[in-house]
Amino acid sequence: MGQNTKNMHYGKITGWGKYVPEKVMSNEDFAAFIDTSDEWIVQRTGIRRRHVAAETDQCSTMATEAGKRALSLAGLAPTDLDLIIVATSSPDYLTPPVSSQVQAQLGAHNVGAFTMSVACPGFVYALITAHQFIAAGSMRNILVIGVELITRMLDWEDRNTAVLFGDGAGAVVLQASDEVCGVRSFVMGSDGEGYQHIIHPSGGTACPPTTETLANREGYIKMNGREVFKFASRKMPEAVAAAVHKAGMTLDDLDLLIPHQANARIIEAAAHMAKLPSEKVFMNVHEYGNTSAASIPIAFCEAIEAGRIHRGDKLCMVAFGAGLTWASAVVQMGSDVAGLPERS
Ligand code: UT7
Repeated sequence: MGQNTKNMHYGKITGWGKYVPEKVMSNEDFAAFIDTSDEWIVQRTGIRRRHVAAETDQCSTMATEAGKRALSLAGLAPTDLDLIIVATSSPDYLTPPVSSQVQAQLGAHNVGAFTMSVACPGFVYALITAHQFIAAGSMRNILVIGVELITRMLDWEDRNTAVLFGDGAGAVVLQASDEVCGVRSFVMGSDGEGYQHIIHPSGGTACPPTTETLANREGYIKMNGREVFKFASRKMPEAVAAAVHKAGMTLDDLDLLIPHQANARIIEAAAHMAKLPSEKVFMNVHEYGNTSAASIPIAFCEAIEAGRIHRGDKLCMVAFGAGLTWASAVVQMGSDVAGLPERS
């Protein structure tokens, strides 16, 4: 546990890293075994390909790899950490928590670790949670990971879901700082009335797996895409506007929106409603599909790689997903972060 340090109440992002499996599946690959087409997938979703885990990849190993890269950039040893938070809906096992496997694989001996299951907004929830520990003055170094090996939970015969998702992991390190930066405001929401719209029916305690559930293909994720689409198109701009307002900013103050990468049409509708020009909106759904809790940290890393995030920039991360749930956070980058360019 880190020591209390006066005024070190801001969680500066000092490291980031992503891991995506090497194997890539194109839309044409799907058209070879289900009734779909590249044209339909691109037009309705913007997705062109997605990365799919190899047999040797696990949720824990992908998370660990992203975590190692983030720690290395932050210049921290795993044992410098006070806490590891892993957001995922596709852990190696229902028990034990995958965060402990990640802690062990990192060599972060005895460091506290927990797993958060908040579907696609999981990473934003985890980032906000990490921020709270630092703001309270009780911790200094926290690793936050969003990871998903969701393709092993898909029904590869169901075109409504099979083509939409991909695997991967992304991570950030938050370090206590006295500079005003990190999570400046946030919104967390859920509406459990919509719990059936994205559901993995069998596998939990409500419906343990039996030969019957297997035969009915209830061991796979089911989704009412149309309902989720309507909910997301409404909630994303609302959540952005609310977080920006809470930060005492206006939408003009934002340098970049990093939305959950589920569907290009949802992102474009949200950007339009929030009146944000396309150069202020990051999109990589065409390359990865929907990687659920990993989508925002992967997009964050890629935005940095593309030179679209600078020192001092104000970002808004926003996500929606199963639950139904949503979250947004205005995040300000530090003014001296190594690895980030100055805004010219
Ligand atoms: O992270 C949160 C997770 N979920 C989401 O973000 C999903 C949000 N929803 C969506 O992205 C969209 O609703 C989808 C991409 C899932 C579907 O697009 P849509 O424009 O809402 O299509 P639809 O559900 O209204 O379906 C239109 C038609 C249907 O055929 P009929 O009933 O009109 O004959 C579907 O069966 O498209 C059919 N369809 C497909 N056709 C070819 C559904 N999936 C496919 C497919 N290929 N892969």
